[in-house]
Amino acid sequence: MIATVTLNPSLDHNIEVEELKIDDVTRMLNSKLDPGGKGINVSRIINTLGGPTVAYGFIAGKEGGQLSLFLAEEGILNSFIAVEGRTRINVIITERKTGKQTRINAEGPRVEIEDLERLKERITRLGGGICSVSFMVFAGSLPPGLPKTTYRDLIEEIKELGIKVVLDTDGEPLKQGVKAKPFMIKPNTYELQRLVDREIKTESDVLDAAERLLSDGIELVAVTRGGKSAFLVTKDFIYRCQPPKIKVISAVGSGDAFIGAFLLALYRGHGYPEAFKWGIAAGAATALVPGTGLMRKEDFEELLKEVEIEKIR
Ligand SMILES: Nc1ncnc2c1ncn2[C@@H]1O[C@H](COP(=O)(O)OP(=O)(O)OP(=O)(O)O)[C@@H](O)[C@H]1O
Ligand SMILES: [Mg+2]
Repeated sequence: MIATVTLNPSLDHNIEVEELKIDDVTRMLNSKLDPGGKGINVSRIINTLGGPTVAYGFIAGKEGGQLSLFLAEEGILNSFIAVEGRTRINVIITERKTGKQTRINAEGPRVEIEDLERLKERITRLGGGICSVSFMVFAGSLPPGLPKTTYRDLIEEIKELGIKVVLDTDGEPLKQGVKAKPFMIKPNTYELQRLVDREIKTESDVLDAAERLLSDGIELVAVTRGGKSAFLVTKDFIYRCQPPKIKVISAVGSGDAFIGAFLLALYRGHGYPEAFKWGIAAGAATALVPGTGLMRKEDFEELLKEVEIEKIR
């Protein structure tokens, strides 16, 4: 089983318009509500590929109930902790004319330390529980109310259970989380820059930063850079992959797709090179879908045939 934890999930309201008019009325051409949040995206990708996953995190109010129902409808096992307030609704407006996207993100409900304790209690029960968890993914921003050390704290507890932890977040929560030595991180260029406090321009900048993180005790550093070459780095090897050339529609969620497919491949017994290909193909397939939509399985399968990786060490 691959578990995901999303501390600040959302409902994403994807709206399509011809052209966004300021100070005037804009007609809505299309409107769709989708479950959102980075860990939830990872679970949805695994589910699309037929893998076993369970989604944890916090939900609140009617919006939170709706989110849980969406996942249930897709057949995704979920076990959220209910907190006071309302799960946030993020608005994503896409202009057909220009393809431009405007995102309006809400803050999300406040989470108290006692709520975090309840979550911890639930996810640490997994060790010898009914479904054994191989990987746990912590992804996305922290909700208001929780300290920057939250991921660090959670990772320390989960690692004790022998579960491999993947951390995908940004800024101070990432810096702190890395101190707990997760099994894997998957920053993009900007997240990596903030993590190592250095500009990342060239491929050797990426590799220098990755080496530093490995020496801090992380086993696997995957760096994705949108349409540019991605890297998979461990103490023993470095792989590079140029993502397939595609007509990008919206790459939102591509990184989450990478993580979901990568982990499912490992879970099914594939080696790192094959898992890296799965991640790259899933990221690219997700970039073919508008708004915050995730990949179609057929696109993933087609793109997977095209992906080639090279071992550079
Ligand atoms: N323009 C693109 N062309 C081809 N593939 C892409 C493109 N953008 C993203 N991808 C695929 O998706 C992977 C992850 O993308 P990216 O580096 O944008 O992740 P991210 O910034 O973490 O995204 P998010 O956090 O929104 O999920 C890339 O390594 C690549 O395989
Ligand atoms: Mg990302």
